Amino acid sequence: MAEVTKVFLNGKIVPLAEAQVSVLDRGFIFGDGVYELIPVYARVPFRMDEHLKRLERSLGEAKIRNPYSRAQWRAHIYALIDAQAFDDQGLYFQVTRGVAKRDHAFPKNIEPTVFMMSNPLVNPPAAQVEQGSAAVTAVDNRWLRCDIKSISLIGNVLLRQLSAEQGAAETILFRDGKLTEASASNVFIVKGGVIQSPPKTNLILPGITYDVVVELARANDLPLEFKDVTEADVRSADEVWVTSSSKEVLAIVELDGKRVGDGRPGPVFRRMHQLYQEFKHKVMRAGKREAVSA
Ligand SMILES: Cc1ncc(COP(=O)(O)O)c(C=O)c1O
Repeated sequence: MAEVTKVFLNGKIVPLAEAQVSVLDRGFIFGDGVYELIPVYARVPFRMDEHLKRLERSLGEAKIRNPYSRAQWRAHIYALIDAQAFDDQGLYFQVTRGVAKRDHAFPKNIEPTVFMMSNPLVNPPAAQVEQGSAAVTAVDNRWLRCDIKSISLIGNVLLRQLSAEQGAAETILFRDGKLTEASASNVFIVKGGVIQSPPKTNLILPGITYDVVVELARANDLPLEFKDVTEADVRSADEVWVTSSSKEVLAIVELDGKRVGDGRPGPVFRRMHQLYQEFKHKVMRAGKREAVSA
């Protein structure tokens, strides 16, 4: 697989080996920062403005100064995409509060640190899409601001490890007996032909892929409901899906070792997966570096 050689640090594209950040950076010391990951298809960033909007919101909620205008962000993102040798990319970027003597309270007059890297994009292989994946469940023990895309991911990391150790693709989370999301994705279920998902609250990350799925369901008259989804609803669902920028839409066919539905990706999943691929290809075919809506 192609190697990443060029990254972006504080306004410049530099060789990976030369990108250096102080050990006093608050991202390193406190996990005091926010991040984004944009999938890039054929060098076209998918839903870039939506990702930038979410970044602006995360920065605002974390009270970290946004160092760039929307236009500057776009220009830096395009420059980094063009610096890579491969076309399909997963463009990761983070902003931390900056470098200062260690003290919990915000330091005054510091510059945020901005780091971006773009790796080859790995979407689920066709066999995984066709056969579906396993997931396990766990109690959602994270903080109450899961709507902020924080780089402090130890909660998510520990939860994801539970499924990794079982050879499963995700850990689906319940808080007070209700579905929230998964360790690195949003969750949808299908019951009696109706797609259901928890509404966007402080308890879940407002996923960009979640929004695409919702738009596609609405544009194609697939019944959809936002509601509290109970643990019992998930365990008795006909279909369970996880969605994220890298996983796209993936069917969960085994939950805690038990079959979901008939143990195969269901018809509503297959339809949504097809719609998602068509939509993605529309953006790629357009070959334009701007948002396209459903
Ligand atoms: C906790 C969590 N929820 C949901 C998502 C899905 O978000 P998106 O569709 O914007 O990738 C992610 C993605 O990283 C995540 O980490």
